[in-house]
Amino acid sequence: MKAVLCKSFGGPENLVIEEVEDLTPEEGQVIISVKAAGLNFPDTLIIQGKYQFQPDLPFSPGGEVAGVVKSVGTGVEGLKPGDRVMSGTSWGGLAEEVRARASNTFIIPEQMSYEQAAASLMTYATSIHALKDRGQLKAGETVMVLGAGGGIGVASIQLAKLMGAKVIACASTDEKLDFCRSIGADHTINYKKEDLKSRAKEITDGQGVDVIVDPVGGDYAEAAFRSIARFGRYLVVGFASGQIPRLPFNLPLLKSASIVGVFWGSLFRNDVNQNRENVAQLLEWFESGELESVIYHSYPLDQYEAAMKALLNQEVKGKIVLIA
Ligand SMILES: NC(=O)c1ccc[n+]([C@@H]2O[C@H](COP(=O)([O-])OP(=O)(O)OC[C@H]3O[C@@H](n4cnc5c(N)ncnc54)[C@H](OP(=O)(O)O)[C@@H]3O)[C@@H](O)[C@H]2O)c1
Repeated sequence: MKAVLCKSFGGPENLVIEEVEDLTPEEGQVIISVKAAGLNFPDTLIIQGKYQFQPDLPFSPGGEVAGVVKSVGTGVEGLKPGDRVMSGTSWGGLAEEVRARASNTFIIPEQMSYEQAAASLMTYATSIHALKDRGQLKAGETVMVLGAGGGIGVASIQLAKLMGAKVIACASTDEKLDFCRSIGADHTINYKKEDLKSRAKEITDGQGVDVIVDPVGGDYAEAAFRSIARFGRYLVVGFASGQIPRLPFNLPLLKSASIVGVFWGSLFRNDVNQNRENVAQLLEWFESGELESVIYHSYPLDQYEAAMKALLNQEVKGKIVLIA
């Protein structure tokens, strides 16, 4: 089978496409014939050796896929060859076949295309875990989303609205913010041009925001935290800016606020049932049409370099998909 391979750490231009051996499943695993793979920021980190976990070289990047189950390992229940599925794979998805945990592989609705399904797991499962499990979001609360035009940002806007929240989308360009409004954001802040804290206070009539979703880190984190409400929850999702922020500890004290870590990889490894419950809710929303993943652009698999560069250039609104 054909696979995009990382043979040494570096940028997308370092990757190659080669023929590799077909896969066989081990216990608790399935082999998926990949039809489409969603691209996410972690894919750009793992090929540089900068992610939380690191497979041995050579490996294929690609943390989420949609496709057809080809074979199942021992101990796998509820999945069989021929099933149409989506799966969170951590890596390996930019290939014609991928090895996946059965416990993080889900049958997709009949009307859902592989392209759509490939963009519907990682950012949505992370965002629902962030808002519901870690943020304890309640209907009527206000959610501020940083990096709101990106994958996590878009999913967080859509899910916060479905959960009955008021959403303030924050991003670096007016074009991204117009897009955020078109998918449901109630208010927008251009953090390149406007003062994040004072605009957020103005929008919330001085109350501050209840929940902040931060997949960006860097310079905006402290300004965002200074706009948090009493008993607010600051959700640490990622550091797309490349900078891990530092925060004065008096700030959470003054607001009785919480800084809460969010790690979907830890959820699907350690709390399988919680993750499956969350994904079941997502699939219900996808099936009913209340939720639809937003695809910015789809590329053929061999254009992986252009696709990754689009993510790194901050131009993407929603998700990028590679078609195998
Ligand atoms: N915790 C978890 O379980 C989990 C799961 C998935 C992803 N993540 C993390 O969440 C973060 C976002 O992932 P994503 O897939 O949503 O990424 P994405 O689609 O590329 O969006 C990231 C956003 O961050 C902003 N940004 C600021 N500086 C940037 C830079 N130097 N390069 C790229 N973007 C920059 C951009 O918005 P503006 O231009 O508007 O600032 C961009 O839209 C990543 O750090 C990723 O590793 C965490």
